[in-house]
Amino acid sequence: MLRYLALGAAVALGLGGAAHAAVEEETTITDYAFPFEGPFGTYDQFQLQRGLQVYTEVCSACHGLRYVPLRTLGAESGPGLPEPQVRAYAELYEVFDEKLLDGEGDFRPAKPTDNFPESSLANAPDLSLMAKARAGFHGPYGLGINQLLKGSGGPEYIASLLTDYTGEQKEEAGVVLYENTAFPSRWIAMPPPLYGDDVTYEDGTEATIEQASVDVAAFLMWTAEPKLAARKRAGFAGVLMLSVLAVLLYFTNKRIWAPYKRKAKDRVPAE
Ligand code: HEC
Repeated sequence: MLRYLALGAAVALGLGGAAHAAVEEETTITDYAFPFEGPFGTYDQFQLQRGLQVYTEVCSACHGLRYVPLRTLGAESGPGLPEPQVRAYAELYEVFDEKLLDGEGDFRPAKPTDNFPESSLANAPDLSLMAKARAGFHGPYGLGINQLLKGSGGPEYIASLLTDYTGEQKEEAGVVLYENTAFPSRWIAMPPPLYGDDVTYEDGTEATIEQASVDVAAFLMWTAEPKLAARKRAGFAGVLMLSVLAVLLYFTNKRIWAPYKRKAKDRVPAE
């Protein structure tokens, strides 16, 4: 019985490994360096602001961020926009308010207390949690150690997706598909959104396709994980506390057993 179980497990692992290898061979995910990586990494506020700009001027034409409250754009750990700017930004969007016109509902300019609108294009997915929903390379395979230490590569996947169009396209069942070497099935329904020079950054950074891709990927990581730095800090404090506790417990243990241990050492071995 046990032998069959072991055999089954080996086969399952082998198959899993093969499927994993196949996915890895097909897609080209670049390991971009992000400032929020590693145990002490935090978001770069200027990068988040640039990413927000790319999102606003390019991606929001099709995609939405419906789980993200507009007021969080003012968060110090996020893009950190001053309050009047958050209010002005919110007014760029229109939201449907059910309470207007005596319960009939009507559109009004968004307020900071509203969320970003939903996707306006039906087949464009909401991007709020996309950076956590997709795995670039440290996916949920194997023991998950890499995923734990380096993250699952969601932002790397998004940045690669935006840069890795080959320029080929085909039509399938009336839908135009574009070849993209980062996309798992290789053919994606999203036309290349960036061409270089899509936005003009105020901080003077040159908006190449790659720069804009990395910036918007960082911004989308923030929308998916806005409390990243606080979470890392709490984790670090927890590990530190547990280490101190472990040392204390070690010495407590020694002290409790000391009288008995001494007796055992002094005892003459029985013949
Ligand atoms: C012209 C409309 C349009 C624009 C502009 C656009 N997208 Fe998309 N996007 C789509 C569509 C449609 C899909 C679904 C593609 C599919 O599933 O084949 C998609 C899918 C995606 C996905 C999910 C891919 C996956 O793994 O399922 C991501 C991530 C994405 N877009 C990011 C962006 C970013 C970032 C921008 C801005 C730089 C952007 N998109 C601009 C239409 C658009």
